[in-house]
Amino acid sequence: MTFKELIQQGIPSVLPEKKPYDQSINHAPKRKEILSKEEKELALRNALRYFEPKHHATLLPEFREELEKYGRIYMYRFRPDYKMYARPIEEYPGKCEQAKAIMLMIQNNLDYAVAQHPHELITYGGNGAVFQNWAQYLLVMKYLSEMTDEQTLAVYSGHPMGLFPSHKDAPRVVVTNGMMIPNYSKPDDWEKFNALGVTQYGQMTAGSYMYIGPQGIVHGTTITVLNGFRKIKKEPKGGLFVTSGLGGMSGAQPKAGNIAGCVTVCAEVNKKATETRHSQGWVDEVISDLDMLSKRVKEALANKEIVSIAYDGNVVEVWEKFAEENIYIDLGSDQTSLHNPWAGGYYPVGLTYEEANEMMANNPEEFKKEVQKSLRRQVEAINKHTAKGTYFFDYGNAFLLEASRAGADVLSTEKNKEFKYPSYVQDIMGPMCFDYGFGPFRWVCASGKPEDLQKTDEIACVVLEELMKNSPKEIQQQMQDNITWIKGAQENKLVVGSQARILYADSDGRVQIASAFNKAISEGKIGPVVLGRDHHDVSGTDSPYRETSNIYDGSRFTADMAIQNVIGDSFRGATWVSIHNGGGVGWGEVINGGFGMVLDGSTDAQRRLENMLFWDVNNGIARRSWARNDEAVFAIKRAMQNNPQLKVTLPNFVDDKLFK
Ligand SMILES: NC(=O)c1ccc[n+]([C@@H]2O[C@H](COP(=O)([O-])OP(=O)(O)OC[C@H]3O[C@@H](n4cnc5c(N)ncnc54)[C@H](O)[C@@H]3O)[C@@H](O)[C@H]2O)c1
Repeated sequence: MTFKELIQQGIPSVLPEKKPYDQSINHAPKRKEILSKEEKELALRNALRYFEPKHHATLLPEFREELEKYGRIYMYRFRPDYKMYARPIEEYPGKCEQAKAIMLMIQNNLDYAVAQHPHELITYGGNGAVFQNWAQYLLVMKYLSEMTDEQTLAVYSGHPMGLFPSHKDAPRVVVTNGMMIPNYSKPDDWEKFNALGVTQYGQMTAGSYMYIGPQGIVHGTTITVLNGFRKIKKEPKGGLFVTSGLGGMSGAQPKAGNIAGCVTVCAEVNKKATETRHSQGWVDEVISDLDMLSKRVKEALANKEIVSIAYDGNVVEVWEKFAEENIYIDLGSDQTSLHNPWAGGYYPVGLTYEEANEMMANNPEEFKKEVQKSLRRQVEAINKHTAKGTYFFDYGNAFLLEASRAGADVLSTEKNKEFKYPSYVQDIMGPMCFDYGFGPFRWVCASGKPEDLQKTDEIACVVLEELMKNSPKEIQQQMQDNITWIKGAQENKLVVGSQARILYADSDGRVQIASAFNKAISEGKIGPVVLGRDHHDVSGTDSPYRETSNIYDGSRFTADMAIQNVIGDSFRGATWVSIHNGGGVGWGEVINGGFGMVLDGSTDAQRRLENMLFWDVNNGIARRSWARNDEAVFAIKRAMQNNPQLKVTLPNFVDDKLFK
């Protein structure tokens, strides 16, 4: 059968051969055993409902074995044999271009070069699922290959409920992931209901088919490092950034440090992670000895080198050694996985990597004490540096939260302030980017051609340079950063998987860039383009300790913005929309949504992009402005001036003296 026929077939009526478990692939860990005997039976019945009864006797023992061995039923036998990657759009079967573009994006999220655990349909973050099992994948692809421009596919946590009649301006797909009744949204609820096969953790761009590999994180981290230096009013050149972690997201730090132009020291305890990042060229040098590290750093600072150095060891040692050696650190952070402190997210100082792994499994109580002791030591050393002027920020990894729980000296004595140090969203990303509407806009060239990506880079650059001429001083810096990024994008060779680009842009930037793409498509200069964004953005995500942590009117624990956003996007022209429980900071801790929009050069596409992108950014700015964030008040007033149809409720500011 051809690729197209295989897609159109959906779930095969003749069972494919059983597949051996492929040891050469990175697999998801065994999930916690959580179901009772009766619940296991329910999970098996749930799984079998995808298949004709004649296959049940064969599949039942196999699915039971998967459930026992891995804690989930992935239906490995049904994993397709064709190569998984984003093909050029014309290679997909179907009646609807928008649906073909969605197929391309789904396959990108499952590409072996992109996905973390491709056989378990996990794109990133350990549990960020595209689908729960292979039956769902096969069915979704079949539906997409059949759908017309007057149908919408409803996807419930990976499960395609079906194609429903709609209309051509409706989204072609509506995705919900992990939407729970609020009282059933604890981490163990995910374990249970995911094992039953009725919900999934979609992370952010995994379950919404919008992941573009490591590029997204490099860009966001570069913006953070650059703005961190601006915050302390210092040039990155000749400056020092100290942090930890060379893992999934944290591994972007040394590369971002190089792009920003400073000296970066990044400690990592896992040699494998260090080797990987070093071999990929994401970190320049590896040093295992603290004296050698100090000597090398002093030399690099004196010569104002742009260099990134991995310290093969524990980050606590670096903070302590640099205090002893009087090495001045300009910018400091931490990106160990402290959202998961007791199961491998944080390695305590004083134990080798192997000793820590052993203790974690065999003596978890003792391990917990070691982690907390180490956090107290780390904070003590960090505090010595900050007393001398180091700017330290939390990188959304729960460092301050866990350190405070461990009794470390991180609590603030100031009124209305939890911690001594800010988080990267409170101080950097929020006020400098999100409040002005700058966020991780992205696009994918559906032709799959690198030359299309190059042309779109050039188009975006021209648009931004033009916009910058008339932009107010408040956003000149952000505009310049975007221009610098897009000019260096080809050279930085960041494409993994589909021909994608990320670019922090504001509402005007996004609308203008998209319009210029649509024009170029209509003139036949480039093929169709899929627009989207990370959920970690201005309007898409309500997350009180991350994206909305710089909302101070008490509303950061509400999720109205994210819900309003996805509903608003859906009737303004998005090709697909998604809304998720959990992403980044965990199940029950965040509601986040996103969209995809296919540009085909038509006037319909132009109408949709203008309408939807404007809302997709300004909804969040309006909310941030209502929360009394000055930058957002400025941005929304400007948006109202530019578009008289926009009328937003503005806050009145109360004189502090009235409360004295
Ligand atoms: N980069 C971002 O933009 C961003 C944004 C928000 C949150 N985060 C958070 O950052 C954290 C890291 O994400 P990740 O995907 O890189 O996780 P990861 O688990 O892949 O990487 C963390 C790395 O830290 C190392 N490590 C743990 N303890 C250490 C120690 N004491 N000293 C030195 N190294 C140590 C681990 O070996 C691991 O390789 C997560 O909590 C994530 O939620 C990152």
